[in-house]
Amino acid sequence: MANTHNGKLFIETVGCQMNMLDSELVVGALRKQGYSLTDDPSDADTILFNTCSVREHAEHKIYSALGRLKYSKQARPNQVIGVLGCMAQKDQTLVFQRAPHVDLVVGTGQLAEVPQLIEAARSRRERALAVSLDRKEAGRAAVSDSFQSYDPLREPAMRPSPHQAFVRIVIGCDKFCTYCVVPMTRGPEQSRPPRDILQEVKVLADQGVKEVTLLGQTVNSYKHTQDGKLFRLSDLLEHIHGVEGILRLKFVTNFPKDMTDDLLQAVRDLPKCAQYLHVPAQSGCNEMLKRMKRGYTVEDYREMFGRIRSTLPHAAVSSDFIVGFCGETAEAHQKSLNLISECRFKNSFIFKYSPRPGTKAFELYADDVPEDVKKQRNNEMLLLQNQISAEDNAGFIGDEVEVLVEGFSKVQLKKSDLGPVSGPSQLTGRTSCDRIVVFDGNPRLAGSLASIEVDDVTPTTLIGHIVTREVQHGSSVLLPILA
Ligand code: 5AD
Ligand code: SF4
Repeated sequence: MANTHNGKLFIETVGCQMNMLDSELVVGALRKQGYSLTDDPSDADTILFNTCSVREHAEHKIYSALGRLKYSKQARPNQVIGVLGCMAQKDQTLVFQRAPHVDLVVGTGQLAEVPQLIEAARSRRERALAVSLDRKEAGRAAVSDSFQSYDPLREPAMRPSPHQAFVRIVIGCDKFCTYCVVPMTRGPEQSRPPRDILQEVKVLADQGVKEVTLLGQTVNSYKHTQDGKLFRLSDLLEHIHGVEGILRLKFVTNFPKDMTDDLLQAVRDLPKCAQYLHVPAQSGCNEMLKRMKRGYTVEDYREMFGRIRSTLPHAAVSSDFIVGFCGETAEAHQKSLNLISECRFKNSFIFKYSPRPGTKAFELYADDVPEDVKKQRNNEMLLLQNQISAEDNAGFIGDEVEVLVEGFSKVQLKKSDLGPVSGPSQLTGRTSCDRIVVFDGNPRLAGSLASIEVDDVTPTTLIGHIVTREVQHGSSVLLPILA
């Protein structure tokens, strides 16, 4: 019989969507054991941090939060404090050294063990470290096995919204970009079996999920042979497309070199696929791309971008850029700005280079761009991208766009903190091309498709009003009247 526990769990998650999914799975397992969630750490007998190591800043945040809990166990001697995920895998026993009151350190590949490790820590008051093998320590198969994650346990309360869910299709990464810790913290690239993925999507659809986002650090590198047949991401999309109840399919993050024509054609031909591709360029300068070991040139990226444009003329493309990477000159930076101007990304996530111990860049190159120059390049790039986003968004004014309604907007959530709100609520939804749309409507619309006429825009948002007739997969339906 499973252990039952009626304790309270506080969990803080930082980092990417993969971490959000991991937290959902951990919470799912703990809820099964009787835990309930609390958003007050002082009220919790189990405190977990699901961590990120991509930049130093993310790690600082966690160590500071741990520092604030130093005396927490004096008030609650039974409390268990755990550090999970990427930083746990990367820092291992260093976490205990820096925060001696931590009981558990559990890597990305051992999250399934969290419930039993918590119980053991509580009953025996012993520290536990559960991490995967170092990639240099053993053969590929053994290391891969040690990073095997578990995905079937789902927890709707931990999702971005009740109608949206993540599904992991690729674990780990083999690209070894020189600045990046992910190949170490998440291990070798492994594609999950199509059968398992499909089964998981069906379970999610039965739970009322309408939008599925397939996850992988390099999601479009997906490759799995099942019953003698090779499945690529395009094949997987086709299969998932048939699952009843799912209205929209997305996948992130794409690696430029693996953006093959079959995938672009699948996105073109399968109507549930979002017209949105996140394909990080990282830099617009060949010398930088070479130092980053990205495996493509700017010319290759341009060629790929041209193929996206010709197959999917209405798709939005977003990117990631690193500013101030080792040896980045003003000219190199300008080349990144040029690429942004040329591609007119829907948005770009811009990061100041953060040297990460254990990576090749840390070992080989000096972090020689001063912090103030990084900051200035970051701001300059943001300004350019915002200008492009605002201009392109302005093109939507007067258009009618179809959105999948997600729920209350942030403004509305803040208002409801102050007490009950009357009248129509401010809702958000997303277009197929991933643009956020804000409008007034009945909260019951969450999880359905609605037509919105765009009245105004900001660089990040379209603002509009509901058009009362909606077309849903060919048939006209009347939307509920506003509250
Ligand atoms: N410093 C800054 N940004 C980084 N990224 C990955 N590693 C680093 C680093 N060391 C960025 C990349 C990646 C995104 C998730 O984080 O742009 O696409
Ligand atoms: Fe990191 Fe590169 Fe892998 Fe992305 S592709 S996770 S940047 S190593």
